Amino acid sequence: MKKKPMIDVKNLWKTFGSQPVLKGLSLQVFPGETVVILGRSGAGKSVTLRHIMGLVPPDEGTVEVNGLMINEMTQKERFHKIKYLGMLFQSGALFDSLSVGENAEFFLTQFPDIKTGKWASKKERRRRVGEALEMVGLPGTEHKAPSELSGGMRRRVALARLIVYRPTIILYDEPTAGLDPVTAMQINEIICNTQKELNATSIVVTHDLRSALEVGDRLAYHHDGQIVQVAPKNEFFLIEDPRVQAFLENTELPDQLINRRQKHA
Ligand SMILES: Nc1ncnc2c1ncn2[C@@H]1O[C@H](COP(=O)(O)OP(=O)(O)OP(=O)(O)O)[C@@H](O)[C@H]1O
Ligand SMILES: [Mg+2]
Repeated sequence: MKKKPMIDVKNLWKTFGSQPVLKGLSLQVFPGETVVILGRSGAGKSVTLRHIMGLVPPDEGTVEVNGLMINEMTQKERFHKIKYLGMLFQSGALFDSLSVGENAEFFLTQFPDIKTGKWASKKERRRRVGEALEMVGLPGTEHKAPSELSGGMRRRVALARLIVYRPTIILYDEPTAGLDPVTAMQINEIICNTQKELNATSIVVTHDLRSALEVGDRLAYHHDGQIVQVAPKNEFFLIEDPRVQAFLENTELPDQLINRRQKHA
């Protein structure tokens, strides 16, 4: 029997003003897998994630997450019924009036534990925030203000906020953009570990092919408002689609891939 997708996006259309951005986009993500979306800047990748979160209503089409029709729900319904859905925004989207520590513990002060239904004590919240900040390479920054941090640091605090909250369906928008290679590798490890520990279902949007290979099970290519190709990561780089090939030709490839492509040529 075929598995039911955890995220099922069907035939999404979206125009902003006179600019069509999504033109019949469909994508399925199965329980426990990580799908990476690649594509040129401005293709509509972030817009796609925002539709899945329910932050943007589609002109046409449906978004189903864990059997719930996201596009038919009100914000209030989403807030209460799909607490296990989390997103790492490209900008970090921190609350500027809260400290780093308060940002990281935010969801624990809003919701009880997703599994046990219990509220975390103040001591427990502090411990979990401390651990998460350490995991993203920012130990002891609880009292800093977001405005004191660099863009990459803000995104890592946003990632700590997700780790603390532990959603099981996670959308990551450019988690490693603008980070140095060592920090980027740490972020990839966090994404992989979260997938393993929580059997999380994830979508990762990235321009970083090394990261795509580290974290992805399948790779998807977003072009002109649609997902035009999806393949297991080992097969993706061999797809004979000129749009994918043009993207790969102009993207810095990790050594392991260059070898694979040369062998295949
Ligand atoms: N709320 C909005 N109102 C009007 N236009 C929008 C809105 N959101 C996105 N767009 C437009 O939709 C297009 C796709 O934007 P999007 O942010 O999804 O691109 P992207 O693929 O994520 O690019 P990047 O790789 O640079 O992050 C852009 O042309 C953008 O200007
Ligand atoms: Mg984007």
